[in-house]
Amino acid sequence: MCGIIGFAGREEAAPILLEGLARMEYRGYDSAGIAVRSEERGLQVKKTKGRLQALFDLTHGGADLEGPLGIGHTRWATHGEPNDINAHPHISEKGNIALVHNGIIENYLEIKEHLIRQGVHFTSDTDTEVVAQLLEFHYNECHSMLEAVGRVLRRIEGSYAFGIICSDYPNALIAARKDSPLILGYGKGGNFIASDVTAIIKYTRDVAYMDDGEIAVVTADHIDVFDAELTPVEKQHSLVDWDVSAAEKGGYAHFMYKEILEQPEAVRKTISPRIREGRVVLDEFSMTAEEAQSISRIFIIACGSSYHVGMVSKYNWERLLRRPVEVCLASEFRYSDPLVDEHSLVIVISQSGETLDTMAAMREAKRLRGRTLAIVNVVGSSIAREADHVLYTWAGPEIAVATTKAYSTQLVLMDLVGLYLGDLLGTVDRAEYDAILSELQALPEKMRAVLADITPIQYFASRYFNHDSIFFIGRNLDYAMGLEGSLKLKEISYIHSEAYASGELKHGTISLIEPGTLVVALGTYGPLFDKAMSNVVEVKARGAEVLAVTTETFRERMEKTADATVAVPDTHPVLQPSLGVVPLQLFAYYVALQRGCDIDKPRNLAKSVTVE
Ligand code: F6R
Repeated sequence: MCGIIGFAGREEAAPILLEGLARMEYRGYDSAGIAVRSEERGLQVKKTKGRLQALFDLTHGGADLEGPLGIGHTRWATHGEPNDINAHPHISEKGNIALVHNGIIENYLEIKEHLIRQGVHFTSDTDTEVVAQLLEFHYNECHSMLEAVGRVLRRIEGSYAFGIICSDYPNALIAARKDSPLILGYGKGGNFIASDVTAIIKYTRDVAYMDDGEIAVVTADHIDVFDAELTPVEKQHSLVDWDVSAAEKGGYAHFMYKEILEQPEAVRKTISPRIREGRVVLDEFSMTAEEAQSISRIFIIACGSSYHVGMVSKYNWERLLRRPVEVCLASEFRYSDPLVDEHSLVIVISQSGETLDTMAAMREAKRLRGRTLAIVNVVGSSIAREADHVLYTWAGPEIAVATTKAYSTQLVLMDLVGLYLGDLLGTVDRAEYDAILSELQALPEKMRAVLADITPIQYFASRYFNHDSIFFIGRNLDYAMGLEGSLKLKEISYIHSEAYASGELKHGTISLIEPGTLVVALGTYGPLFDKAMSNVVEVKARGAEVLAVTTETFRERMEKTADATVAVPDTHPVLQPSLGVVPLQLFAYYVALQRGCDIDKPRNLAKSVTVE
């Protein structure tokens, strides 16, 4: 989604802004722009539709804009089509204010009409230009930028992160946020604002997270933060615990491939600090046995792949905890009048920690007095800060739009939480607890074994990449895993794909199976392997080509029926999706590669979805 960077320092701002925008390219965008201010040339703005390279060419790598103060933006269109005019920064009519914005201003039309009646002229279709014009309107009244920003924030409704520069303020940029992330970066030769820490990590790891309603005034030497009443606020600094190399490709063709390979280490980092002396220890989420007993219902809320993690956990947790677990799409949950009460444990799962629907669903759950636990990857993100408890997945920065290592770390963290609760509730016996825990610790090695043998998957991708519709089938955990395999494939290769619970095929979908249809059959879940096999036979009988993913134990049996088989190491059945998903990620990757798709930045998709 949209990205913001701002810089106030002593060097030329434009190249720094362009580089920061390039580091946020992965988030998805359709146009980009920068505004820079200098003493001699005042405000200079360049913006254009298309890739950042176009902005780079337009500004000769930033050399055409002069000055040590500036803001930059990558836009993902919400109001008005992607074009040069609707791109940010937006300039006020008199040309002395430039503003970039992430989020949506809900009452922009009403404000726009008011300003038009006052004689203000608009050039774009955006909600953002309305804010730039309103700001100028108030600035003309009060002649103080800070006061004008305060007045604007009291007037607008919706979500926002703003970066603002004004030609009358040679040294300062102003930032404000509500429901859209904004980070302050304390650098050596200047200070920063950014919507994503990757934009500024090359310059500083010393950051502070802005809270809703706060306004920051950023100069080369200071960052002053104020609350909505313009009272100064002391910010707590955080040190980002990864460096620039973690957010770079490091010689790999794609971030997605690099991130698939990083999974064993990411999983190890997520698990190992939380297992001590043979027990799961969750410092950030400790509960007494009585508190656990008082939970009558568990909700897992998320979107996309994070929701698929919830699907796996539902099967596992209901079996281990003997409690009803409801998995909800955040976008549905928030408007469903949910039956959450003070006896509900509500788990929200989000890589970015900024997904608007997930955030809104969590707020609704809190309003209904549910106890919220967030499983989040991005430290300091909005969901992490608002939840009652947070457990971080230590996957490191995930740059590819299609999630892989974040999904895998979410899975194992949910396994740990399940074990922890099962122990408190007394529903998991000691032998099973020990068996799962020891297999969890063995997962990184077993994932490495899967990743060491990718040639067959490359071969299958080159054999099947031309199909235009692919079905994933499986039962129980294999079904949940198939949902993720199917999503991976469709989002990066653009092949139509659906995942079905195998037992449902004969209730309709089997009519689509005809000679040559590709079916990816998942048979890794031991307790239901025989049932899964009979579904494979069923689709084979109708002429389907079957690519199967199974375990070493079942390889031989599967090979007798399937056209192609990939086998992963055996583990405890509840953990099998952690291994089975890896060939599915690789299959999607290699199919997309064969089809020449833009793997890290698939069309129409954004890394973090901060609009509804
Ligand atoms: C798919 C993918 C998305 C995200 C979804 C939720 O590869 O990445 O489906 O899982 O947009 O995002 P988070 O986890 O950031 O809330």
